[in-house]
Amino acid sequence: MSHMAEPSLDRTTVPALQRWKEEARRIVMTTAYDAVTARIADSVVDVILVGDSVGNVCLGFENTLPVSIAMMNHHLEAVARTGPRALLVADMPFLSFHLSPEETIRNAGGFLQRGADAVKLEGGAKRIEMVRALVDCEIPVMGHLGLTPQSVNVMGGFKVQGRKLDDASRLLEDAHRLQEAGCFALVLEGIPAELATRATETLTIPTIGIGAGPGCSGQVLVFHDVLSLTEGHRPKFVRAYLDGFQLLREALSRWATDVRSGTFPAAQESYRLPQEFADTIANWTPPSPT
Ligand code: KIV
Repeated sequence: MSHMAEPSLDRTTVPALQRWKEEARRIVMTTAYDAVTARIADSVVDVILVGDSVGNVCLGFENTLPVSIAMMNHHLEAVARTGPRALLVADMPFLSFHLSPEETIRNAGGFLQRGADAVKLEGGAKRIEMVRALVDCEIPVMGHLGLTPQSVNVMGGFKVQGRKLDDASRLLEDAHRLQEAGCFALVLEGIPAELATRATETLTIPTIGIGAGPGCSGQVLVFHDVLSLTEGHRPKFVRAYLDGFQLLREALSRWATDVRSGTFPAAQESYRLPQEFADTIANWTPPSPT
């Protein structure tokens, strides 16, 4: 195949997202952590994020801090094997982009070698050196500002950010520094709507909001939140489109009832012996013990 081949019309690319911002076409992004969720998501959204939220959503951790590069690689590979047409973005986990440009490049480059189209990393001014290093290696970077879950200990919990004037101004400055450093898009999480709107108006790159109001270039929600697949507290910014946990539980419970009552499996869910030796088997007796 020629290296000059155009991507199929359907495939979302990094330049396509830039164009969509100019055309005011809204970007839809969700997470996927395995082949099942990836196939469902890919039939609907423009961007799939293998988020480090896999830690708290799927792996039972309290937050994203314990998520490692090895865990991310495992989940990214499962999603990438489905060959999504959505842009596939892999999240850089805690400590995978903090220590040195070399290690950051190796970790992010490993994601691209496993099928990601781009990486996402959290943080502002302090991460500019790493963003530049990645962009220099032709690795597209999506930034992430505001309520950055990897900073949970510094923030003192998962709290809305940018509510004070100096925090809001710093966030806008960080957004512009990330754009200058080469980020192709920015996730804005957990910030007042007016702040996200101003960032979107003044940046040339698209913004993707989560708990950041309607003024962003697109929106992202965690797959399991949209479908309410997990139990527990639901943040204000989530709109659930299915009571997934309850519906799945009810269906599973109907199956369990059928097993317990002996109505599952029925004839249509069973294999049969050929008639000519079915009777022989029905009358078979165990050999006497030797
Ligand atoms: O890890 C994740 O799921 C994220 C999104 C919520 C943006 O970073």
